[in-house]
Amino acid sequence: MQKPAPIDSPIHQLLRDRWSPRSFADKAIPDDVLRSLFEAARWAPSSNNEQPWAYIVATKDDKVNFEKALSTLVEFNAGWAKSASALAIAVSELAFAKSHAPNRNALYDTGAATAFLSVEATAQGLGVHQMAGFDPEKARQAFGIPEGWEAIAAIAIGYPGDPDSLPPKLKDRELAPRTRKPIREFVMAGSWGHTASFAAK
Ligand SMILES: Cc1cc2nc3c(=O)[nH]c(=O)nc-3n(C[C@H](O)[C@H](O)[C@H](O)COP(=O)(O)O)c2cc1C
Repeated sequence: MQKPAPIDSPIHQLLRDRWSPRSFADKAIPDDVLRSLFEAARWAPSSNNEQPWAYIVATKDDKVNFEKALSTLVEFNAGWAKSASALAIAVSELAFAKSHAPNRNALYDTGAATAFLSVEATAQGLGVHQMAGFDPEKARQAFGIPEGWEAIAAIAIGYPGDPDSLPPKLKDRELAPRTRKPIREFVMAGSWGHTASFAAK
Protein backbone atom coordinates (compact mmCIF):
# COMPACT_ATOMS: atom_id res chain seq x y z
CA MET A 1 0.00 0.00 0.00
CA GLN A 2 1.21 3.50 -0.84
CA LYS A 3 0.10 6.76 0.68
CA PRO A 4 1.87 9.63 -1.07
CA ALA A 5 1.66 13.00 0.65
CA PRO A 6 -0.89 15.41 -0.86
CA ILE A 7 1.72 18.11 -1.42
CA ASP A 8 1.27 21.88 -1.86
CA SER A 9 4.66 22.29 -3.62
CA PRO A 10 6.74 19.71 -5.49
CA ILE A 11 9.12 17.60 -3.38
CA HIS A 12 11.26 14.54 -4.11
CA GLN A 13 9.11 11.49 -4.73
CA LEU A 14 10.88 9.55 -1.94
CA LEU A 15 9.88 12.18 0.61
CA ARG A 16 6.30 12.06 -0.66
CA ASP A 17 6.18 8.30 -0.44
CA ARG A 18 7.60 7.91 3.07
CA TRP A 19 4.84 7.30 5.57
CA SER A 20 4.31 5.42 8.83
CA PRO A 21 2.48 2.14 8.20
CA ARG A 22 1.13 -0.21 10.88
CA SER A 23 0.60 -3.24 8.64
CA PHE A 24 3.62 -5.23 7.56
CA ALA A 25 4.19 -8.29 5.36
CA ASP A 26 5.60 -11.47 6.86
CA LYS A 27 8.88 -11.09 4.96
CA ALA A 28 12.40 -10.93 6.30
CA ILE A 29 14.64 -7.97 5.47
CA PRO A 30 17.89 -9.15 3.85
CA ASP A 31 21.06 -8.24 5.74
CA ASP A 32 22.39 -6.09 2.87
CA VAL A 33 19.18 -4.03 2.92
CA LEU A 34 19.47 -3.60 6.70
CA ARG A 35 23.06 -2.48 6.18
CA SER A 36 21.88 0.15 3.68
CA LEU A 37 19.33 1.54 6.14
CA PHE A 38 21.98 2.12 8.78
CA GLU A 39 24.49 3.32 6.17
CA ALA A 40 21.94 6.04 5.37
CA ALA A 41 21.69 6.91 9.07
CA ARG A 42 25.49 6.98 9.20
CA TRP A 43 25.64 9.76 6.63
CA ALA A 44 23.29 12.13 8.44
CA PRO A 45 24.86 15.42 9.49
CA SER A 46 25.44 16.07 13.18
CA SER A 47 26.71 18.81 15.43
CA ASN A 48 30.54 18.67 15.49
CA ASN A 49 30.22 15.44 13.45
CA GLU A 50 29.66 13.77 16.83
CA GLN A 51 27.27 11.13 15.39
CA PRO A 52 25.66 10.75 18.82
CA TRP A 53 23.34 7.93 17.75
CA ALA A 54 23.24 4.17 18.17
CA TYR A 55 20.60 1.62 17.19
CA ILE A 56 19.75 -1.66 18.87
CA VAL A 57 18.18 -3.84 16.19
CA ALA A 58 16.23 -7.06 16.56
CA THR A 59 15.03 -8.94 13.50
CA LYS A 60 12.05 -11.22 13.85
CA ASP A 61 14.12 -14.39 13.46
CA ASP A 62 16.10 -13.31 16.53
CA LYS A 63 13.11 -14.27 18.68
CA VAL A 64 14.61 -13.49 22.10
CA ASN A 65 15.72 -9.98 21.23
CA PHE A 66 12.62 -9.24 19.13
CA GLU A 67 10.46 -10.14 22.14
CA LYS A 68 12.68 -7.99 24.38
CA ALA A 69 12.24 -5.00 22.06
CA LEU A 70 8.50 -5.66 21.77
CA SER A 71 8.20 -5.77 25.57
CA THR A 72 9.47 -2.16 25.81
CA LEU A 73 6.55 -0.87 23.71
CA VAL A 74 3.31 0.47 25.15
CA GLU A 75 0.43 -1.94 24.62
CA PHE A 76 -1.06 0.02 21.72
CA ASN A 77 2.20 -0.03 19.76
CA ALA A 78 3.06 -3.64 20.63
CA GLY A 79 -0.34 -4.64 19.19
CA TRP A 80 0.62 -3.71 15.63
CA ALA A 81 4.45 -3.53 15.78
CA LYS A 82 4.65 -7.26 16.48
CA SER A 83 4.06 -7.83 12.75
CA ALA A 84 7.13 -5.77 11.76
CA SER A 85 10.14 -7.69 10.41
CA ALA A 86 12.54 -5.74 12.60
CA LEU A 87 12.35 -3.53 15.65
CA ALA A 88 14.99 -1.01 16.59
CA ILE A 89 15.63 1.35 19.46
CA ALA A 90 17.30 4.66 18.61
CA VAL A 91 19.69 5.68 21.37
CA SER A 92 21.43 9.02 21.85
CA GLU A 93 24.64 9.98 23.65
CA LEU A 94 23.69 13.05 25.64
CA ALA A 95 27.19 14.49 26.15
CA PHE A 96 30.14 15.01 23.79
CA ALA A 97 32.41 11.96 24.02
CA LYS A 98 35.64 13.99 24.43
CA SER A 99 34.65 17.01 26.53
CA HIS A 100 31.70 15.44 28.38
CA ALA A 101 29.89 18.77 27.92
CA PRO A 102 26.15 18.37 27.33
CA ASN A 103 25.35 17.97 23.64
CA ARG A 104 22.14 19.93 23.26
CA ASN A 105 21.74 18.69 19.70
CA ALA A 106 22.11 14.99 20.41
CA LEU A 107 18.39 14.25 20.09
CA TYR A 108 18.11 16.51 17.06
CA ASP A 109 20.96 14.65 15.37
CA THR A 110 19.57 11.23 16.26
CA GLY A 111 16.25 12.26 14.74
CA ALA A 112 18.05 13.39 11.60
CA ALA A 113 19.83 10.02 11.35
CA THR A 114 16.53 8.19 11.71
CA ALA A 115 14.96 10.46 9.09
CA PHE A 116 17.76 9.47 6.69
CA LEU A 117 17.13 5.82 7.56
CA SER A 118 13.40 6.28 6.89
CA VAL A 119 13.97 7.78 3.46
CA GLU A 120 16.45 5.03 2.51
CA ALA A 121 13.89 2.48 3.73
CA THR A 122 11.30 4.06 1.43
CA ALA A 123 13.74 3.75 -1.47
CA GLN A 124 14.22 0.07 -0.58
CA GLY A 125 10.45 -0.55 -0.60
CA LEU A 126 10.25 -0.74 3.19
CA GLY A 127 8.01 1.05 5.67
CA VAL A 128 9.34 2.59 8.89
CA HIS A 129 7.16 3.56 11.84
CA GLN A 130 8.83 5.47 14.68
CA MET A 131 7.38 5.29 18.18
CA ALA A 132 7.64 7.49 21.24
CA GLY A 133 5.30 5.05 22.96
CA PHE A 134 7.84 2.83 24.65
CA ASP A 135 9.60 2.66 28.01
CA PRO A 136 13.20 3.97 27.76
CA GLU A 137 14.15 2.55 31.18
CA LYS A 138 12.83 -0.89 30.23
CA ALA A 139 14.94 -0.62 27.07
CA ARG A 140 17.97 0.33 29.19
CA GLN A 141 17.48 -2.75 31.38
CA ALA A 142 16.64 -5.10 28.51
CA PHE A 143 19.62 -4.18 26.36
CA GLY A 144 22.19 -2.88 28.84
CA ILE A 145 22.17 0.71 27.57
CA PRO A 146 24.96 2.47 29.49
CA GLU A 147 24.70 5.65 31.54
CA GLY A 148 25.09 8.76 29.42
CA TRP A 149 23.08 7.19 26.60
CA GLU A 150 19.30 7.41 26.41
CA ALA A 151 16.76 5.45 24.39
CA ILE A 152 14.88 8.05 22.34
CA ALA A 153 12.47 6.19 20.08
CA ALA A 154 11.47 2.71 19.03
CA ILE A 155 11.25 1.91 15.33
CA ALA A 156 9.24 -0.74 13.45
CA ILE A 157 10.56 -1.72 10.01
CA GLY A 158 9.01 -4.01 7.42
CA TYR A 159 7.67 -4.48 3.91
CA PRO A 160 4.16 -3.13 3.27
CA GLY A 161 1.40 -5.38 4.52
CA ASP A 162 -2.34 -5.71 4.07
CA PRO A 163 -4.37 -3.09 5.96
CA ASP A 164 -7.13 -5.73 6.23
CA SER A 165 -4.89 -7.55 8.71
CA LEU A 166 -5.40 -4.71 11.19
CA PRO A 167 -8.27 -4.37 13.67
CA PRO A 168 -11.04 -2.06 12.29
CA LYS A 169 -9.95 1.13 14.13
CA LEU A 170 -6.33 0.77 13.06
CA LYS A 171 -7.38 -0.12 9.53
CA ASP A 172 -9.32 3.16 9.37
CA ARG A 173 -6.21 5.05 10.54
CA GLU A 174 -4.08 3.17 8.01
CA LEU A 175 -6.38 4.27 5.20
CA ALA A 176 -7.02 7.82 6.48
CA PRO A 177 -5.61 10.72 4.48
CA ARG A 178 -2.26 12.13 5.61
CA THR A 179 -2.45 15.69 6.88
CA ARG A 180 0.01 18.48 7.70
CA LYS A 181 -0.05 22.13 8.72
CA PRO A 182 0.53 24.42 5.72
CA ILE A 183 4.04 25.96 5.57
CA ARG A 184 2.57 29.41 6.22
CA GLU A 185 1.96 28.29 9.83
CA PHE A 186 5.59 27.48 10.61
CA VAL A 187 7.82 29.39 8.21
CA MET A 188 8.48 32.88 9.55
CA ALA A 189 10.63 35.87 8.73
CA GLY A 190 11.50 39.09 10.51
CA SER A 191 9.91 38.28 13.85
CA TRP A 192 8.11 35.43 15.51
CA GLY A 193 4.62 34.84 14.16
CA HIS A 194 5.19 36.65 10.86
CA THR A 195 4.86 34.31 7.91
CA ALA A 196 7.70 34.55 5.39
CA SER A 197 6.30 36.15 2.24
CA PHE A 198 7.20 33.19 0.00
CA ALA A 199 5.36 30.85 2.37
CA ALA A 200 2.19 32.94 2.41
CA LYS A 201 1.43 32.29 -1.28
C1 LIG B 1 9.30 10.59 17.26
C2 LIG B 1 8.01 9.95 16.79
C3 LIG B 1 7.22 9.26 17.68
C4 LIG B 1 6.06 8.61 17.24
N1 LIG B 1 5.36 7.83 18.13
C5 LIG B 1 4.37 7.05 17.67
C6 LIG B 1 3.78 6.07 18.52
O1 LIG B 1 4.17 5.88 19.69
N2 LIG B 1 2.77 5.31 18.03
C7 LIG B 1 2.31 5.45 16.74
O2 LIG B 1 1.40 4.71 16.35
N3 LIG B 1 2.87 6.36 15.89
C8 LIG B 1 3.89 7.15 16.32
N4 LIG B 1 4.52 8.04 15.47
C9 LIG B 1 4.06 8.18 14.08
C10 LIG B 1 3.38 9.51 13.85
O3 LIG B 1 2.10 9.50 14.41
C11 LIG B 1 3.36 9.81 12.34
O4 LIG B 1 4.68 10.01 11.90
C12 LIG B 1 2.52 11.03 12.02
O5 LIG B 1 1.17 10.80 12.31
C13 LIG B 1 2.64 11.43 10.55
O6 LIG B 1 2.29 10.36 9.74
P1 LIG B 1 3.26 9.89 8.55
O7 LIG B 1 4.58 9.50 9.18
O8 LIG B 1 2.57 8.69 7.94
O9 LIG B 1 3.42 11.01 7.60
C14 LIG B 1 5.66 8.71 15.89
C15 LIG B 1 6.46 9.42 14.97
C16 LIG B 1 7.63 10.03 15.42
C17 LIG B 1 8.50 10.75 14.41
